[in-house]
Amino acid sequence: MAYNLLKGKKGIITGALDENSIAWQVALRAHEEGAQFVLTNAPVAMRMGKINELAEKCKTIVIPADATSLEDIEKLYTQTAEHLGGNLDFLLHSIGMSPNVRKGKTYGDLNYDWFQKTLDISALSFHKMMQVAEKMDFFNEWASVVGLSYIAAQRTYPDYSDMAQAKAMLESIARSYGQRLGRNKKVRVNTISQSPTKTTAGSGISGFDVFFDYAEMLSPLGNATSAECADYILSLFSDLTRKVTMQNLFHDGGFSTSGITEELVEKLSK
Ligand code: NAI
Repeated sequence: MAYNLLKGKKGIITGALDENSIAWQVALRAHEEGAQFVLTNAPVAMRMGKINELAEKCKTIVIPADATSLEDIEKLYTQTAEHLGGNLDFLLHSIGMSPNVRKGKTYGDLNYDWFQKTLDISALSFHKMMQVAEKMDFFNEWASVVGLSYIAAQRTYPDYSDMAQAKAMLESIARSYGQRLGRNKKVRVNTISQSPTKTTAGSGISGFDVFFDYAEMLSPLGNATSAECADYILSLFSDLTRKVTMQNLFHDGGFSTSGITEELVEKLSK
């Protein structure tokens, strides 16, 4: 159901690769809610994904940009301003990738160049996107910035490897930049810590199916889907959440505060 929650708002949505991507669902819902936005992804994703299909559905354009490149981000903002005819009311950072995870390196055998890449792609890019926007004075007052995190920032999941450090950094950047942008421009910055979700990034973690099922059993409301995540993100982009900032918000069906559930006890007693 649409509520016109984002009518008149302009934004940028990163990270839509295919229909499983969280960002894909956000784009569909933001379009339904009356937002105008531009889609962006790394140039390599243009070849792999189906982002042009999504752009057609949302009546918008795709501007390729590597989120680790300041130059690409600047170009992205300049072209977005031209296309949308105004500054940003919302920005979704939905970007994550670890070469170490992708190439199956164990935590005791990490390649440090790749580790730096993980941090650059998955966390520093969040800072870069805000810093460039601040320097270009590209945020409107009361704009909302959202990044996507995972509970591995607080608790260890062996196969999540160096992505755990990237998520801890991402959440920390949301607090530090949230304070700065809140004071300077009344912009809010939050991260959403999402349930395991079956997407390209998610399924790239080995053992993903096991911790997906485990989280499902430990969450009283069950795992949150990408469409449900999109709904939550829209609420943060809307004017209904203007004083929510510098938070890491769990969107996980109750997983993060659940000790054990009857379902798990039953399963483990067998
Ligand atoms: P996805 O694989 O569909 O999205 C990740 C996106 O990052 C892709 O579109 C990819 O092209 C983009 N990307 C990678 N390198 C980039 C670069 N240099 N510049 C610009 N874009 C780049 O997977 P998903 O799950 O939708 O991931 C979105 C976010 O949600 C990520 O931050 C991920 O860590 C986070 N997340 C995912 C969970 C899951 O279980 N799938 C759980 C909690 C958080």
